Parts: sequence; structure tokens; C-alpha cells
Amino acid sequence: MGVIVYALPGNEVLAAQLVRTLGARAGELVLRQFPDGEWYLRVLTAAAGDDVVLACSLDRPNEKLVALYQLASSLRDDGAGRIVLAAPYLAYLRQDRRFLEGEALTSHSIARWLSGFIDGLVTVDPHLHRIHRLDEIYRVPSVVVPAAQAIARWVRRHVERPILIGPDAESEQWLSQVATLAQCPYRMLEKQRHGDREVEVSVPDLAGGVDRTPVLIDDIISTARTLVAALERLHEAGLPRAVCIGVHGLFVGDAEEALRQAGAARVLTCNTVNHASNAIDVHADIATAVASLLAAPPGEPSPPPR
Ligand code: R5P
Repeated sequence: MGVIVYALPGNEVLAAQLVRTLGARAGELVLRQFPDGEWYLRVLTAAAGDDVVLACSLDRPNEKLVALYQLASSLRDDGAGRIVLAAPYLAYLRQDRRFLEGEALTSHSIARWLSGFIDGLVTVDPHLHRIHRLDEIYRVPSVVVPAAQAIARWVRRHVERPILIGPDAESEQWLSQVATLAQCPYRMLEKQRHGDREVEVSVPDLAGGVDRTPVLIDDIISTARTLVAALERLHEAGLPRAVCIGVHGLFVGDAEEALRQAGAARVLTCNTVNHASNAIDVHADIATAVASLLAAPPGEPSPPPR
């Protein structure tokens, strides 16, 4: 019994890293859409009796989830062993509570669905706010790869006298880790979101930080309105142009242009979602995490979150 890695479209670089680290075989498949949008799938590398890893980041997730489901179902029907999903960006973690009566708990329903057709999950810094561990909603073993070390390494190498700035209190837990690893101070802003694109942030006391290079760090850059509001406030407070780092860069609509206009010195992201800003590599850490998951005997509880 071996391991076969299948790349969903756009995930070929991660899949190659997985193949190298796991000593696995690269699986071949044909996946395309019919003119009406339905998926056509043909698995060219049979996986009967083998464990499989599916490399698929879940940005813009709606169509990808269906493709993933079709692939996992087909492999399962043909006798594959364990099916591990390596999803550097894990979608649908935003709506983890009913803020208004009748709202769907989409975090929970997507977790339930995915848990029904995979046997293990590896992701990078999932957007966990009111849920604290993935296994509160996922019923399969999971490993979370933290990006803190890779981000801290980049900051240490590239920024002189940095001060790290997080846009909201919820990100303090991991921002403080990056600051400890990069050996620099950090501050948190206060954020209020009034709508998808309406964000207000206020800057608390920056004493001791105004002569440093601000490095804004957020877990997700989506519309970028959070970082734009933060850049504007930092500019008003007299700080130099800030470097912006996102763990996951979704860059919806005019996000990049908005960051440019707001005066970002540089915008960079981890390679969890393909984008020109990818400058921080987390693929090797993902592959190591997948190896640890596959090394655990089937049915073992999730390895503790790192
Ligand atoms: C919010 O909880 C997240 O940490 C990010 O701040 C948010 O997803 C960023 O979104 P946007 O780029 O649309 O402001």
C-alpha cells in the first residue's frame, strides 16, 4: 500500500511538494467542466488499496467543493484507503454563529459534509474565531499548520526595526506569537465592521512604535477594506508606509488597487492561495503535517493542534 497525491487544478506546486516529502506517486486525472458548468472527471491513476492525498485550496470554494466531492467519491468507490485533504486555505469558517435569527451555520454544515467524504484534513491557520478547534465541527482528524514561524522568518530577514500591527483583538493570539518569534513589539487596532466593505479601525496608543516600520498582519485579505482602513489610520498617526502581510490572500474585486492607493509599501502573502503576492512558503510545513497524519494509525484521534 502506498500514497498517491492528486492535484485539483491550480494546486500542482503543493502536490509536487507532497509527492517529494511523502515519497508518494503523483496521481493523474482529467477534470474539466461541461459547457453548462457540471464537472467531468476521469481518474487515470487507480488508487485501489492506496491512501490518497487531495491537494486543493478552497478559496472561491463553491465549485471546488463539488469537484472534490466527486473525486473523493470516485476514489472511495474504487477502493482507495484513507483520503486526506490538504487544503491550505479552508473556506466557510466565517459563519460560525447565528448572529441573526434564521442564519445558516455554514461553518458547521460544510464541515459535516466534508467530514463525510474525507478521513483527514490539513490546513493553515483556519479562520477560527468563535470556534477554537477544528474538531469542534470536523469529525475527522485534522492538523493545523501555523504560519507564524514562516511569517516571523520573513519579517526578521526583510524589515528593519519592525512593529507588528494586528487589525482586531481576535488576531492577537497569533500576532503575539509572530512578534515573539520575530523579536519585535506588536500592537492591536480596534475594528468595527459595518458591512462587507465598510470597516472602521481605530489606532490605540502607538508609543514607542512611531519610529519603527509598521507591518500589518491579517489572517485573510479579502476585500482588503480592513487593511486599507488600518493603513489610513497609521498614515494619519504619522507612521511610515506599512508592509501588509496576509496569511491567505483572496484579493476580491479591487482589493489590490485599493491597497496600492492606500499607500501599502508592499503586500505579501503565504502560498496558501495562488497569487502574485505569494512570498512566504508554507508548503513544506503542510507536507510534513500530512505525513504526520498519515503516520497515525487509522481511527486515532486528531493530533493536538500546534
Ligand atoms: C476578520 O475576522 C478577518 O480576520 C479579516 O480581517 C477579514 O476577513 C478581512 O476581510 P477584508 O479584507 O474584506 O476586510
